[in-house]
Amino acid sequence: MTPIAVTQTESIAAPTVQPIKLKGDGPRNPADVARNTLPAPLEYKGSLESYSHFEVTPSIGREFGRDLQLSQLLKAPNSDDLIRDLAVLISRRGVCFFRAQDVNQEEMMQLQKKISVLAGQPKQSNMCIHPVSENVGEMGAKTQLISAEMQRKGGGIMRLHDDVSRWATRAYHSDVSFEKVPSDYSMLKVNVLPESGGDTQWVNCYDILDKISPSMLEYFKGLKAEHNANFFHQEAANHGRSISKTMIRGNPLNVGDDLSARHPLIRTNPVTGWNALYYSYGFGGRIQGVTYDEHVMLREYLTQLCMNNFDCSVRFRWEAGSVAIWDNRSTLHSATFDYTEERSGDRASSIGELPYLSRDGVLKSEALRAEGLKW
Ligand SMILES: [Fe+2]
Repeated sequence: MTPIAVTQTESIAAPTVQPIKLKGDGPRNPADVARNTLPAPLEYKGSLESYSHFEVTPSIGREFGRDLQLSQLLKAPNSDDLIRDLAVLISRRGVCFFRAQDVNQEEMMQLQKKISVLAGQPKQSNMCIHPVSENVGEMGAKTQLISAEMQRKGGGIMRLHDDVSRWATRAYHSDVSFEKVPSDYSMLKVNVLPESGGDTQWVNCYDILDKISPSMLEYFKGLKAEHNANFFHQEAANHGRSISKTMIRGNPLNVGDDLSARHPLIRTNPVTGWNALYYSYGFGGRIQGVTYDEHVMLREYLTQLCMNNFDCSVRFRWEAGSVAIWDNRSTLHSATFDYTEERSGDRASSIGELPYLSRDGVLKSEALRAEGLKW
């Protein structure tokens, strides 16, 4: 594979928030097009407890048996109640796994949209359109194909393995966190996979906060960090394409060819009301408001927090027909690039709200103690 120069920002970048012109009588405050609509965190009503399941680790992940078919949730008379509960469960457990699913591409899109809407998706947010993807162009959002072939052409976050570091966990990321309004939830169904390899790993970024001292956490609450994926310009060029300057990628604020944004380092999930670390090495750019040396040290510390705490992570071994749905606001994930055979599937991802830190945001561990719950 031809090494590709990594363009990760190492210096203080120019302001990345571009003035946005909205057509018509749009809201004056850009945040108005990207504010979560929930008045308060949602309660899990327990409607999915009758399906067979187990908690994969105490920290993160619930796996359902094949008696739960996602396609049936869409058709149930109490569909909204079930899917709202599903959204809450995903936000609480970080990621949920489903085996032997018959859900098709169209149903995945419907389900993904419903999960997001019932979890307070801003009215002007929609499905995610990735700036670089094999089968997503100017035509609009469809489910996106994840394939080994694209990675072989020099694509995806696997570029991290070409240079800088060969540590697999360096590819941890939250989907499209480089967008001004990033993703809330993503769904992946794997249809073709190697005999062995290609597992996906997730990190629970709520629980990571328990590894930080209260005084350090207070300091982090005042920081913002850049998320930068401008390396995708090179990747698009490798595929003979360029990144559209005009296509809106799931929210009016996600437009233009600057693939970077600044977000709070600690972010509140509106569905749970719990705070989470929102930073990854994969898209991790300059931490704002500190010196370069402090940025390098903090970036490494935050990365090590996610890499080294395997009590906050879960690894999923796919089977054909497996589906995973995760909350991008409070988890990081990465595929394992240990295969050469075909690995392909369908992905549906939605755009959520402008990231924020709420004064009312709490630690997950404190919230569970108050609720008297184990998870
Ligand atoms: Fe991803």
